[in-house]
Amino acid sequence: MARLKTPADLRSHRWFGAEDLRAFGHRSRALQMGYERADFLGKPVIAIINTWSDINPCHGHFRTRAEEVKRGVWQAGGFPLELPALSLAETYVKPTTMLYRNFLAMEVEELLRSHPIDGAVLLGGCDKTTPATVMGAVSMDLPTIFLPAGPMLRGNWNGEPLGSGSDVWKYWADKQAGRIGAREWQEMEAGIARSHGTCMTMGTAATMTALVDTLGLCLPGASSIPAPDSGHARMASACGRRIVEMVWEDLKPSDILTRESFENALTVHMAMAGSTNAMIHLIAMARRAGIALSLDDFDAVARRIPVLANIRPSGAYLMEDFYYAGGLRALQAVLGPHLHLACRTVAGMSLAQSLEGAKVHHPDVIRPLDRPIGATSGTAILRGNLAPEGCVMKPAAADPRFLKHSGPALVFDSYDEMAAAMEDEALEVTQDSVLILRNAGPVGGPGMPEWGMLPIPRKLLKQGVRDMLRISDARMSGTSYGACVLHVSPESHIGGPLAAVRRGDVVSVDVAARSIEVALSEREMAQRLHDWTPPNRDYPRGYNRLFAQHIRQAHDGCDFDFLEGTARLPEPEIH
Ligand code: FES
Repeated sequence: MARLKTPADLRSHRWFGAEDLRAFGHRSRALQMGYERADFLGKPVIAIINTWSDINPCHGHFRTRAEEVKRGVWQAGGFPLELPALSLAETYVKPTTMLYRNFLAMEVEELLRSHPIDGAVLLGGCDKTTPATVMGAVSMDLPTIFLPAGPMLRGNWNGEPLGSGSDVWKYWADKQAGRIGAREWQEMEAGIARSHGTCMTMGTAATMTALVDTLGLCLPGASSIPAPDSGHARMASACGRRIVEMVWEDLKPSDILTRESFENALTVHMAMAGSTNAMIHLIAMARRAGIALSLDDFDAVARRIPVLANIRPSGAYLMEDFYYAGGLRALQAVLGPHLHLACRTVAGMSLAQSLEGAKVHHPDVIRPLDRPIGATSGTAILRGNLAPEGCVMKPAAADPRFLKHSGPALVFDSYDEMAAAMEDEALEVTQDSVLILRNAGPVGGPGMPEWGMLPIPRKLLKQGVRDMLRISDARMSGTSYGACVLHVSPESHIGGPLAAVRRGDVVSVDVAARSIEVALSEREMAQRLHDWTPPNRDYPRGYNRLFAQHIRQAHDGCDFDFLEGTARLPEPEIH
């Protein structure tokens, strides 16, 4: 370990080391907490940002993991301080955790800035907690390790493995169609989430933790370890030991995050058929690091990287299988020819060094480059007169017949209106119809709720229909599937072209051509948008008001305009 810092160089020295009145107060209050002077003086102070709460089942083990991190920090000669942060439980927070991603990012940045902190271990994993904590830490740019919650164990029902989200949607459709009853449904309720940890399909949690791991911000391969595995606890202590070294080495996110490391993340994202939400989060994270990532970068990688991780919803297995098959390091080893292997990691070694010894133990779960799980790419960016700034589709998770499709639009202005219509057995709809939901974007939702996997009309479910072309400015869960076109930008609520579509207009999607069009002349489109009046939604005060005034569109990463960029804020005055 190359020590670049001395105790007097530590940021926390300003709080604890000086011989003035304020430092006296800080030291006496640390003594008040029961610590000795030797416990904290001259030692790296490590913040453990903990997104644990009673209502986040994915982070239920973070109470003990925080203690395990502390053990590592003490072992390495640091001083650990646990700081609680917003837990953003994906399943409970309404209307959507996306509304609060930037809130948590701000909280993390300001927790680190305002306290005597030299380095941070971020405990996150449940969907937005990963990008949010990383965004805040990147903006603060102190030495940081991300500790991923890890996937929960496989679900189980009648001896069948069940996957979070993906199998819920599948069996819910069967229940709606009358193929399974209340008893089976209750059994699944008890069997689908068997332990702490994040969703064990390739949802947003598994995607984002693997991407942050690939960016070099986790101990290599940490994101694949299942939450209840004893290796997860050992990894937590290793994070504690390593972050202390990183403070002395002054190894910061700005030393690790580069254009190349983000390209590595894009490559892994495509090979995993990762969640579409990653497009928003990666762009936001990259821009915090001063790297101009765009939707075009995703598409360029998607055209050359096949899907290799055979994980639901695009594949057959679950994250526990992925771990036993070798985990992320094995996938990265397969992808080696497509990765920038000189990129640095928090472990103090290059990506190439971190992959030494990594190998695939189950080649059906992690496929070789010449045997991908399908012919289609994990993600496609579409553009056209319906989405001039782009939108996103996950071809690998869609019925191939909808990858080139035209049909009459069936348009809904709100989720409730749409949901009621889907139950209406007299609804005029066929499998060729194109379902459109608007006012579900960053401002309209607000916060782009995960409504993008619009339900199939009950009438068609009974006929055995399981997929249709669906278009919205919403997002969808990474565990969802189907021919769903998402993140249409600019959104309808601010006058994007989706606002001009009427029932019966012919809408066409061609994934190979990367196009999305509505059959309207430029003139007709302009006239309709001229006549359009914005939906009436105003927030008189509070966080929603701040959000509506400052949120960026999906193709720009949905950060707040005032949080973007790399400009450093001054350190707080200590008086
Ligand atoms: Fe927490 Fe899926 S609900 S990761």
